[in-house]
Amino acid sequence: MADLSVTYMGLKLANPLIVSSSSLTNTVAKVKRCEDSGAGAVVLKSLFEEQIEAQTEAIEDESWPYPHPEAFDYVRQMGMRLGQDDYLKLIAESKKAVSIPVIASLNCVTPKWWLNYAGEIARAGADGIELNIAILPTDAERTAEEIERTYTRIIEGVRRRVEIPVAAKIGPYFTSLPRLARGLSDAGAAALVLFNRFYQMDIDIEKLALAPGYHLSSPEEIHLPLRWVAILAGQVGCDLAASTGVHDGAGLVKQLLAGARAVQVCSNLYQKGMGRIAVLLRELEEWMGRHGFEKIADFNGRMSMGASEKPEYYERLQYIKVYVGLE
Ligand SMILES: Cc1cc2nc3c(=O)[nH]c(=O)nc-3n(C[C@H](O)[C@H](O)[C@H](O)COP(=O)(O)O)c2cc1C
Repeated sequence: MADLSVTYMGLKLANPLIVSSSSLTNTVAKVKRCEDSGAGAVVLKSLFEEQIEAQTEAIEDESWPYPHPEAFDYVRQMGMRLGQDDYLKLIAESKKAVSIPVIASLNCVTPKWWLNYAGEIARAGADGIELNIAILPTDAERTAEEIERTYTRIIEGVRRRVEIPVAAKIGPYFTSLPRLARGLSDAGAAALVLFNRFYQMDIDIEKLALAPGYHLSSPEEIHLPLRWVAILAGQVGCDLAASTGVHDGAGLVKQLLAGARAVQVCSNLYQKGMGRIAVLLRELEEWMGRHGFEKIADFNGRMSMGASEKPEYYERLQYIKVYVGLE
């Protein structure tokens, strides 16, 4: 039997498959179900600053263009209000119920909450904390540098407050992602999660109102995170976890080949159930068997840009092949 164990943000995982932050991880029973289904770790549903401040009325108004689908999901699907105390309880009780690592998740807007709340989360016993940082640049006065500095400041601040490892879950829209990624790693991030999936904006043309778009991913969405995992692996000092578009064992293998230490899965589990965890892991093992790999380190990062013979031409050849082939 292959050894699927990995170390991700300093935590030992029996396998690289993590159940992403979502309503699949918002109760102790569901966290236990993740463990029973074979997950290597879980990231708990995010705690939103709006919950901490108990300002949920505004979010319940669906015409309000709130940038986080997670908040809509929280209010509409959970049918309950998990305040900050409930969240700390979720962490503490999940830790008692399972032996896999439990990573808490925080999504804030204003600096004071990142700092105050990260400390509380660490004290509640979380093994790590994932900061879902999603700053939507809507203001033409704000420079890219200012926005990116905010990202690194959040990491620096939280790192000063807590001893547990901190990951940053970010979106793909930066001019120089390698530069930002290295900055976050230098600021103390133990891992980067690529990528956060922004709320898909939509408009209801009958009601003339903003509407939230469909929020589950499709398998085609793997390509964007796959490219960036492959480019960043080995270039930034910290671990990378892939998130978005992994719907089968092949997707899991691809992300590990690109250089991800861990792979987060969400939409596929919503669509097809928690039994998919065992299927994906079995497909990974079968693939390893076919290729004679005994452990993840035997192939992890093998298809990354850094491992290629000519990194300067990485992807260029495939690009040419596609476009010449199409003519
Ligand atoms: C219903 C739903 C709720 C989610 N809630 C959160 C959340 O609270 N915090 C977070 O960081 N990401 C949240 N996400 C995003 C997922 O963690 C994940 O990054 C995204 O769905 C892409 O992965 P996938 O392609 O495997 O679904 C949510 C996604 C869905 C579909």
